[in-house]
Amino acid sequence: MAEAWWKESAVYQIYPRSFFDSNGDGIGDLQGIIAKLDYIQRLGVDVLWLSPIYQSPNDDNGYDISDYFKIMKEFGTLVDFENLLEAVHQRGMKLVMDLVVNHTSDEHLWFVESVKDAQGTYGDYYIWRPGRDGGPPNNWGAFFGGSAWQYCEQRDAYYLHLFSKKQPDLNWEHPGVRRDILDMMRWWLNNGVDGFRMDVINLLSKHPELPDMPAQENQPYPMPLPYVANGPKIHEYLQEMKREVLDDFPCMTVGEMIGVTPELALRYVDEATGPLNMVFHFEHMYVDHDWSQPGQKRSWKLTEMKAILRKWQETLQGRGWNALYWNNHDQPRSLSRFGSEKRYPVESAKMLAAVLFLQQGTPFIYQGEELGMTNCAFERIEDYRDVATVGMYEQFTTAGYPEDQVMAAIQRLSRDNARTPMQWSAEPHGGFTTGKPWIKVNPNYKEINAAAQMEEPHSVFNFYRKLLALRNSNSVLIYGAYKEILPDSEDVYAFLRTQGGEMVLVAGNFRHKEVKVDLQPWVKVKPDMEMLLTNYQGPRTLDDGVLLLEPFEVVVYRVS
Ligand code: GLC
Ligand code: CA
Repeated sequence: MAEAWWKESAVYQIYPRSFFDSNGDGIGDLQGIIAKLDYIQRLGVDVLWLSPIYQSPNDDNGYDISDYFKIMKEFGTLVDFENLLEAVHQRGMKLVMDLVVNHTSDEHLWFVESVKDAQGTYGDYYIWRPGRDGGPPNNWGAFFGGSAWQYCEQRDAYYLHLFSKKQPDLNWEHPGVRRDILDMMRWWLNNGVDGFRMDVINLLSKHPELPDMPAQENQPYPMPLPYVANGPKIHEYLQEMKREVLDDFPCMTVGEMIGVTPELALRYVDEATGPLNMVFHFEHMYVDHDWSQPGQKRSWKLTEMKAILRKWQETLQGRGWNALYWNNHDQPRSLSRFGSEKRYPVESAKMLAAVLFLQQGTPFIYQGEELGMTNCAFERIEDYRDVATVGMYEQFTTAGYPEDQVMAAIQRLSRDNARTPMQWSAEPHGGFTTGKPWIKVNPNYKEINAAAQMEEPHSVFNFYRKLLALRNSNSVLIYGAYKEILPDSEDVYAFLRTQGGEMVLVAGNFRHKEVKVDLQPWVKVKPDMEMLLTNYQGPRTLDDGVLLLEPFEVVVYRVS
């Protein structure tokens, strides 16, 4: 595999609103990030990715941008941003921006002008259609609930919004849209940013005829994924972006993509021809989710999770590069989903990190994950802030589901689970703010917080540090080939990484009980193998090729 700085890096995602508030208004900000750079550097990550910090009316917390060249006023100014970028670079780290170009805010000047004048410069910057039989142009649904079309009186027409109605979709067919977006990207790169995380980037090209979706039971507005994801011109648009902008900079790119398989992804990230470096897919995020009805908990099997991730490892191996993540600002906390939040929180948080971040790919860590932060259930819908959560509440209660069932689903699935403030200390509000936080703090901050964990040698935080340092100092853990072993085990996630004559074994137990696995067909286990990392203390049991793992134990051995 060709070497690249972004393959050797680990990325830390910051959701600025919830990271650290420097001025007591209850909202995290850029000066707050600057204040915490020592902490971030101590963790041992190389790159920061900031969720959107551009000017925004915050219908979707910055994923609705009203000016791509300005900083959200709650977060600070362009000067604050320049200071942050410089401070990050001085520490030898890099900074990646979120790029949200499938849609803008309805308060963006382009949209305001588009509403005013269908014939004007911006008239076709968005996707406008006449209504049909007194209703929307087709039956498409929006991701946040309801129809994907909003009627606009001034134009006597509907505009498409795949997300909230304050997020109108841009019309990428329009050459002016593409030119303006590419100019904007170049501007940020010229100003020194090191790349982009590209929001829902494979939705840019819609099916030209915008056909109706087949009718679905209990679903007046089906999601139009087949007509919006990986559309007919998506590769044309992204190749143009690569040629005109990305190729001129040593930047990194990762595209968030709904509805991609590893085969489809290869076309986006093929090292020889693909426009992007990496893809965020959702396949492993769906194993425990069922959105069709509220409260439907899908029981998942470890073999399903492993099969998904294995397919991504094997398909991309030697041709593309994986983005490895358990958490982000849209997902409930992984420890609460896949680990043991109640009985083995520390062990399982560490185990999850090791079995994913030692696969081939670039690790993406979401703020608070390195502390083992957990989901946080609010009792009242009024305490939720997320536009998608509120949309889901309305949709399901209107459809007649009982309130307690809807609330139970929200508590488990809401994106706000990830957006409660970062837990810095045992001080009020977890040390996040001296004011009133914009969203409630998880009450477990007294036990789970950064100040305590930095001191405690066996904390989740210090395990993440060791894990990243280990990856950094062993090329086999970065570039080595990946080979899963024990694929049929429902208890243990195990694989080998090999490069030249080197071989490393990673094995993690997903069960609340002790398990024994026979590694014989794959590895000749020797009692004196070097232990590189573990989440348990004391000597480990290794006998005759049989590995004994305590509940949620993970071990990393150098085999040869
Ligand atoms: C992406 C973002 C999410 C946002 C959506 C619309 O999925 O991660 O937070 O709501 O796109 O921009
Ligand atoms: Ca603030």
